[in-house]
Amino acid sequence: MALVQLAGVSKVYRSLQGSDYVAVQDFSLDIQAGEFFCLLGTSGCGKTTVLNMVAGFEPASTGDIRIDGRPIEGPAADRGVVFQGDDSLYGWLSAMGNVEFGLRMRGLGRRERAEKARHYLDLVGMGSQGHKHPAELSGGMKQRIQIARVLANEPQMLLMDEPFAALDAHTRADMQHELQRICRATGKTVLFITHDIDEAIILADRIGVMHAGPASKLKGIVPVTLAEAERERTHDRFMAVYRQVHEMIRDEVAIALQRAH
Ligand SMILES: Nc1ncnc2c1ncn2[C@@H]1O[C@H](COP(=O)(O)OP(=O)(O)OP(=O)(O)O)[C@@H](O)[C@H]1O
Ligand SMILES: [Mg+2]
Repeated sequence: MALVQLAGVSKVYRSLQGSDYVAVQDFSLDIQAGEFFCLLGTSGCGKTTVLNMVAGFEPASTGDIRIDGRPIEGPAADRGVVFQGDDSLYGWLSAMGNVEFGLRMRGLGRRERAEKARHYLDLVGMGSQGHKHPAELSGGMKQRIQIARVLANEPQMLLMDEPFAALDAHTRADMQHELQRICRATGKTVLFITHDIDEAIILADRIGVMHAGPASKLKGIVPVTLAEAERERTHDRFMAVYRQVHEMIRDEVAIALQRAH
């Protein structure tokens, strides 16, 4: 059985003015345990909407969403979320304090908290920076701390909404590499949103491409069976996958532009 199951899901945003907006409709997707699934689509197509429903922040309007066979009843500790444009570190706490925060809420003792926090800071390559406060950290460092904070709660699943979008190209490449390594080491199941085809091919086991909105759903799924050494932009097999995904998304970009006018 798949870890995440979305079956015939739709999301209608009710408007007080009376013009309801159907963001996604008849959206179905299974994500296997341990799988890295990238969701790709044009801006406004409904990616965040899907992630918010899986996270339990938004109920589906119709359809069925299950984790491990159980219907979602709201946010829970089994799903760690890194939000789009996330800048939610507590400024008055050190990096270490931020990573420990959720552990303290869960009632872990001082020593265990510190041990875990150190472990996850190490994992994201921030082991020596734990004493610094967010204001003293670069954007990429803050993003690492955010990821460490989510990992420290040891969720079964990571839900990541364009977590690297604001980073410069170099830091971004670093973080992609780091995330890949972490996921391999911890066997996490990941739903990762991006609109960057390269990023999706570097990271994913499978890439789902969404239609342009409204009433969006999956247009298709491209499996990425590349070996690690092939996950290089210049590799022939990488470029073949790129073409396949690009072809799928190209028309949707045109449709989205048309609808925006
Ligand atoms: N709370 C809301 N109320 C009304 N409409 C909403 C709400 N949230 C999202 N929408 C609409 O639903 C559609 C999908 O939004 P969503 O944020 O899921 O898109 P997205 O694919 O994540 O876009 P982006 O790539 O720009 O982040 C958009 O047209 C948006 O305007
Ligand atoms: Mg979004």
